[in-house]
Amino acid sequence: MTVPQYEKTKILVLFGSQTGNAQDVAERIGREAKLRQYSPRVMAMDAFDVRLLPEEPLVVFVTSTTGQGELPTNMKHFWRFLLRKNLPADSLSGLTHAVFGLGDSGYVQYNVVAKKLTRRLAALGSRSVIEQGLGDDQHPHGYEAALDPWLAHLWATLRAQHPLPPGITEPLPGETATPLEPKYRVTMLGRRPGPCADAGAVAALEEATAAARLFGQVEAAVAGTSRHCAVENGPEPVYGPGQPYMARVLKNERITAEDHFQDTRHIEVHLGDSGLVYMPGDLLAVFPQQRTSALRDFLHRTGLDPEEWVKVEAADSLAGTHRAAVEVRTGALVAGVMDVAGASPRRFFFEVLRAFTHNPAQAERLAYFASPAGREDLSKYNEREGRTALEVLQDFEDARLPLEWLLQAMPRLKPRYFSIASSPRAHPGAAHITAAVVDYKTPHRRRKRGVCTSWLATLQPGSPDAKVPIWVEPGVMRPPDVHTLMILVGPGTGVAPFRSFLEDRLAARSQGGTAIVSSFLYFGCRNEAKDYYYRSFWEQCQGEGILAAPGGLVTAFSRDQAAKVYVQHRIRDTSAQLWAALQQGAVVFVCGSAKRMPQEVAAAFERVCMQEGGMTKADAAKYMKQLEMKGRYAVEAWS
Ligand code: 2AM
Repeated sequence: MTVPQYEKTKILVLFGSQTGNAQDVAERIGREAKLRQYSPRVMAMDAFDVRLLPEEPLVVFVTSTTGQGELPTNMKHFWRFLLRKNLPADSLSGLTHAVFGLGDSGYVQYNVVAKKLTRRLAALGSRSVIEQGLGDDQHPHGYEAALDPWLAHLWATLRAQHPLPPGITEPLPGETATPLEPKYRVTMLGRRPGPCADAGAVAALEEATAAARLFGQVEAAVAGTSRHCAVENGPEPVYGPGQPYMARVLKNERITAEDHFQDTRHIEVHLGDSGLVYMPGDLLAVFPQQRTSALRDFLHRTGLDPEEWVKVEAADSLAGTHRAAVEVRTGALVAGVMDVAGASPRRFFFEVLRAFTHNPAQAERLAYFASPAGREDLSKYNEREGRTALEVLQDFEDARLPLEWLLQAMPRLKPRYFSIASSPRAHPGAAHITAAVVDYKTPHRRRKRGVCTSWLATLQPGSPDAKVPIWVEPGVMRPPDVHTLMILVGPGTGVAPFRSFLEDRLAARSQGGTAIVSSFLYFGCRNEAKDYYYRSFWEQCQGEGILAAPGGLVTAFSRDQAAKVYVQHRIRDTSAQLWAALQQGAVVFVCGSAKRMPQEVAAAFERVCMQEGGMTKADAAKYMKQLEMKGRYAVEAWS
């Protein structure tokens, strides 16, 4: 069939992405746009020449909001430009746009980047096609729960504004008439002489992290962000995400009772001559080593030869000024880049599998999973069951994915972040973390183990194999000076950074003899006898006046009595002392699981204000908001 010639409507899709989710969404919008007969371009905001923005008729923005509301790194330049004071109020009056944000409602700064962008675009005169969409990680179906209806609405609205010429039809949704476009080009180079994968666990891990760094360069070229990457061979080697330090494990102790359901570890690593420094409140990033058996099964299933060398570069269509070609051993590329048996794959993975299977029954099931109609069933099969990419590949055994598609569609192996539990003053040259080993049963009773924590738990201090690739990342909580009272709320492993805060105050006392104001710690766990982490340390703090005595160490043992008791209940029970502390200028820190705890603790503080300060609910909420704005209420939460 010949398609009549006509000018397709152009859509520019710009993303600001930190972990890759916003980029995934942007790429999906690009694919769907193509399917609907538009002419799309998809780029990182910083890869786009922002001065040309006024010339664009139609732009879809996709941006994530990280932890405490910061901008993704690859939109910082773009945003700085938009904020310029000398931009006339109508400078974007020729533009129409749509904004989709990805965030986590477990955080107070929920989707703030998308909201700020929406406001700024309006202030510059741009007209929005539809209301901004906000995806929420807390939703059982993740951000896609909001994305699917938002996109459907966007396409319908745009079609009404840009009807297709007669004779041109739009493929129905779910039809993937456009072939998927690869982002990477791989060239197999054959085996090479030299050390192989059997050189030992540490050598394999070093090679995997190096492969991750190299692949990161190609990824950056593909996302158009390579100009902001660190320059290689700079003057000083600084350990960071591009180059982790291989730290020796000094200690690895179980700190829960042997008969407790959970294995929680106190782990200490040696910073040696790395030059790595940290402050209380910082995070230790750990790049995990995957299980050898999982990697072996994956290589077997995909038919890849781990010893074969491969050149990876940006696909022809995407390579701009440079293609960032790198050469790596296939085994190291898999081990350092693809999360084989950890995270569940994205919906896109099912779309790609479908394209590479010839089994009609499996193709049909995959197409259903990849469509909005199959979302609920996909979520039951995939996320809720903690299904791994390896398991999916084993279930859909006829699909044969070439390496470039594995690179594009597999979940990316990511570093894990742990709150540092030690003070550098108390333990120079070492960093401690508190890691609860992830090990649980899915709704269908399948056992799931965390990639990073289950590996960490096996490391034997003193053994040459006990090395961990690490670096330091800034956290969001910063302890105030020693004259400020702290209210620390940390159930479970959320208490880890508070060990660092309090150790630091103890060390300050013994070094300088300063008068230190006593703080309050609210700790929660299941049983006093089983998972009361660092008990003797908190008691020592109380003995030395770092925690107030009495009343400065408040515990909530949720399962030592019939009714559940949580930290927020204990906050309410002790509202008088907390209100007095807030009046004295106390700073509140909340750390732990992002599921419900942070909101419930915030609500408990609101109740304290209402009960002790005689405020209305609205006033209490305003008061809390002000505390937060002044940096007197900070939350570090994880999901
Ligand atoms: P539970 O497991 O008995 O429900 C550390 O995990 C502690 O936090 C446990 O005692 C756990 O109690 C408790 N916890 C669970 N959900 C919580 C919530 N929403 N708020 C505060 N604490 C919670």
